[in-house]
Amino acid sequence: MTSYLTHLECTYCGAKHDADRPIRTCPKCGKVLYARYDLETASLVLKREHLAGRPANMWRYAEVMPVRSPENVVTLGEGFTPLMKVERLGRKFGFGNLYIKDEGVNPTGSFKARGLSAAVSRAKELGLTRLTMPSAGNAAGAMSAYCAAAGMVANVFMPRDAPEANQVECRAYGANLTLVDGFITDAGKLSAVAAAEHGLFDVSTLREPYRAEGKKTMGYEIAEQMAWSLPDVIVYPTGGGTGIVGIWKAFDEMEQMGWLPRGVKRPRMICVQAEGCAPLVAAFIAGKEHAETVVRPHTIASGLRVPAAIGDYLVLRVVRESGGTALTVTDDEMIAAVREMADLSGVFAAPEGGATLAGLKKLSEQGLVQSDERIVLLNTGSALKYMDVLGPAFGA
Ligand SMILES: Cc1ncc(COP(=O)(O)O)c(C=O)c1O
Ligand SMILES: [Zn+2]
Repeated sequence: MTSYLTHLECTYCGAKHDADRPIRTCPKCGKVLYARYDLETASLVLKREHLAGRPANMWRYAEVMPVRSPENVVTLGEGFTPLMKVERLGRKFGFGNLYIKDEGVNPTGSFKARGLSAAVSRAKELGLTRLTMPSAGNAAGAMSAYCAAAGMVANVFMPRDAPEANQVECRAYGANLTLVDGFITDAGKLSAVAAAEHGLFDVSTLREPYRAEGKKTMGYEIAEQMAWSLPDVIVYPTGGGTGIVGIWKAFDEMEQMGWLPRGVKRPRMICVQAEGCAPLVAAFIAGKEHAETVVRPHTIASGLRVPAAIGDYLVLRVVRESGGTALTVTDDEMIAAVREMADLSGVFAAPEGGATLAGLKKLSEQGLVQSDERIVLLNTGSALKYMDVLGPAFGA
């Protein structure tokens, strides 16, 4: 299994850059870089039928992953999470084809494992051993775990109000954890300073090209698990946006490889944000290309407490191109949805996962989804990491 990675390409100005040296954002314009592959050759080597015999983790798509030597892959078994039809939950809200992709079963309990397995592996391959990042919580836990597995140094800057589980796990994995009085954007500034002062490599999301490569595997998996026919709707809880843009990138790649027919009908991508922090929803409604920074972000869904994101234009492009929409839900709606999801599907979701069901209910009220459509809710994390915020809601 060889990677067909060829170069990095700027998603904004189109400039091409060498992928085999450490690089973060586009040196020309400062925007997000995507990893690009020789998909034509990859498609001759890796056919859909070959996947059946491959390991049940995200590295089954190795040819379109950014790590050249298998010995550099740092894995804890992330990915290939279950995509389950949730009949009882669907019936309750009048949907005949409702699915949950449960990312809560990933190592470290969230989909962040995918991005960090990819980023830490590629950093290792490029000879980088000391990493830093700002994180809302789950990404920090994931980076810490993968650095522990690889024997690398993890430095983490996390808002002081991040869930307790995230703080504890970073310490357990031996990371250097700094709690920040402020938001993830403030943590980002401190991480950048630490990187400059101590020669650390900063793997802030979408400010390095490889986390998105890990997250795109959710898109590959949805297609594979649905026998290569895409759902009609994907509902995604959006913070920095890496997940939603990663899934779309996977659809592009699969079309280019002939794994999906050219011009295949793509899902409508639904971006759900918290009412107390919805920069992308505001930009979507205003018809803008970039989002304004939210001044006082607040929501119990720490992963959605992202007041500004470098990839805002990418998320907005995906939502518009797909014919989807962007909408907000309140914290109370998220908690109610977490309860319904747990009770009617057996999936105990993070508040972010609850946000997808809460969002779907609103779409349905607005007549934006039909009862027979195939709908996938992305539960991005496990409720067990949020006991400090969910516990009180459930009488603990
Ligand atoms: C559980 C959970 N869901 C969703 C998100 C938002 O993810 P993205 O940055 O891909 O939009 C996060 C980010 O921290 C998260 O931890
Ligand atoms: Zn550029």
